[in-house]
Amino acid sequence: MISKVRVSHFQQLKAAHRPIAVLTAYDAPLAALADEGGMDAILVGDSVGMVVHGMETTLPVTMEMMILHTQAVARGSRRPLLIADMPFMSFQVGPKETLENAGRLMKEGGAEAVKLETGNPRIVETVRYLVDAGIPVMGHIGLTPQSVHQLGGYKVQGRGVENADHLIEIALGVQQAGAFSIVLELMSRDVARRITAELTIPTIGIGAGAGCDGQVLVMNDLLGLTQRPPRFARKYVDMRAGTLRAVRKYGRDVRERLFPGDEHGFE
Ligand code: KIV
Repeated sequence: MISKVRVSHFQQLKAAHRPIAVLTAYDAPLAALADEGGMDAILVGDSVGMVVHGMETTLPVTMEMMILHTQAVARGSRRPLLIADMPFMSFQVGPKETLENAGRLMKEGGAEAVKLETGNPRIVETVRYLVDAGIPVMGHIGLTPQSVHQLGGYKVQGRGVENADHLIEIALGVQQAGAFSIVLELMSRDVARRITAELTIPTIGIGAGAGCDGQVLVMNDLLGLTQRPPRFARKYVDMRAGTLRAVRKYGRDVRERLFPGDEHGFE
């Protein structure tokens, strides 16, 4: 049993063909449960904007939000590798600002690695720059939600020979630039399997089939809190229904003076 998961373990897990389990978390209590539940890594995704803050897309997420949520997750968890997402426009800017932003996620947030959406081949140079500065980087290709307007919606990527070859080329570029791992989001299973076979770094899939080296799931989807979850997500518990039942019962109890009971009061 690994006592603290580090970037180097990702490589070892791929070599051992032991699938890597990653879950997103945005606060201390759920990060603690992700740790206790044996996750290899926790991703503080910029999905926080949509699933926690009710935003329409991830584009408005700021560095301050990412630092705050990363700090909370760092307080709640210890064993899993802690990866923080770089929000929109925090790494598409000049190299100096990109390095500063990645550094803040680690120094102020407590992240042990950063993830950036690397769908654009130009970003490969940014990966190299961060890695050369000593920052472990996870790439992210396929459906890259920060490019939702450019991609024309949340669509499956990599369909057709040309698109598939393009994704494989970018994945290889991200690996060559020094990334320790790469997320493959919403792409055809075949392309994900090909990328996984070509790369020496582990691929972490979401909506990319079972052929990846690991999987990542959004915490709120796993918990059944998402009202319209994506097709690729699996609900492991129905917390939406359970929470709704509990809230309704609490309201009834207050109105019927059944809560608080004697045991909740003081002399
Ligand atoms: O923001 C996020 O949660 C992500 C995962 C879905 C990979 O990028």
